[in-house]
Amino acid sequence: MENLADAFLRLDRKEIALLKAVERGMRTSEWASMEDVVARARLSPKAAASGLARLVGKKLVSRTTEPYEGYQIGFVAYDLVALSDLVARDVVLSLGDLLGVGKESVVFEALGRIPPGADEQAAPPEGEETELVPLAVKFHRQGRTSFKHVRRAREHLADHPRCAWIHAARLGAAREWRTLKALHPEVRVPRPVALSHHALVMEHAGGTELYRVVLEEPEPFLELILEEVASAWRRGFVHADLSAYNVLVGEEGEVVIIDWPQAVSRRDPRARELLERDVKNLLDHFARKYRLDLSLEAALSSAAADLGPGEEGGKEAGDEEVDVSTTNGAAEG
Ligand SMILES: Nc1ncnc2c1ncn2[C@@H]1O[C@H](COP(=O)(O)OP(=O)(O)OP(=O)(O)O)[C@@H](O)[C@H]1O
Ligand SMILES: [Mg+2]
Repeated sequence: MENLADAFLRLDRKEIALLKAVERGMRTSEWASMEDVVARARLSPKAAASGLARLVGKKLVSRTTEPYEGYQIGFVAYDLVALSDLVARDVVLSLGDLLGVGKESVVFEALGRIPPGADEQAAPPEGEETELVPLAVKFHRQGRTSFKHVRRAREHLADHPRCAWIHAARLGAAREWRTLKALHPEVRVPRPVALSHHALVMEHAGGTELYRVVLEEPEPFLELILEEVASAWRRGFVHADLSAYNVLVGEEGEVVIIDWPQAVSRRDPRARELLERDVKNLLDHFARKYRLDLSLEAALSSAAADLGPGEEGGKEAGDEEVDVSTTNGAAEG
């Protein structure tokens, strides 16, 4: 696959407008019809046809002629749609190397700006430009692999999308965005910066995944992680996919917990079980790699003394359902 940044630079405005138009059209039908694309892209039929032919040539768009002339985008084209929005919004200035490819995401490093209003600290003094900051751009890929996510996306969306993968990926990004917004900065998670379609922009956390480092002092580091797990629990969340792959170790030995799309509310009936599984995953890692022997009970009680079901009656951040359209709408401006 061609580098995403190069693919982006090789697109002209017309092609970007066409990709956006096809994506829009796919919200209501499996194949966006030619008429629909022409109307949405505000191009002449001739200009649209030649642009679409180029996009088909670049394998960013596929075409059908039955039962009508229609077009579809795939994940890479969808990445380009989100990226063009983030560039237009001045969030992303340049895209760097691939940081990671997972089952359910592709993450790139980038340079950009924290949009004013993203949080108070980020507002620059008057007359000054915000500084460029290293970012991580995570393009969600949920719908590609997980039928469960797809079904969940369908249930959540009133309009029963034709193209489930787009909605599943959007929902994954929206869920992760919502969780990071609720947890940052009290819990050590990457600072959320922007959301567009299925792309989540966060601050680059630096550091190295826990599974790749050899810690000099594993025990205090395990305690640091358990404190963050407890802190997230107090704010109403269980990570639910915690492992040595989703913990970053900073250069100063600080901890950052990443990868939150599957987080559940602590009021979820499975919350306690998922919390225990998270903690057990960590303990297994430290036992295997460092021969550190801490029981699950001790870990749960030392780090999270108040593992009760939470204050009765009070609604917590983790309880809110995600409304993809409003979350995205607000963030996309
Ligand atoms: N904010 C960040 N700062 C620095 N690196 C990051 C950041 N977010 C993600 N990464 C890097 O990208 C990789 C993949 O990100 P993440 O764990 O969020 O998704 P994933 O592993 O693809 O998801 P899945 O577990 O579903 O496969 C991480 O292992 C990490 O190396
Ligand atoms: Mg991960």
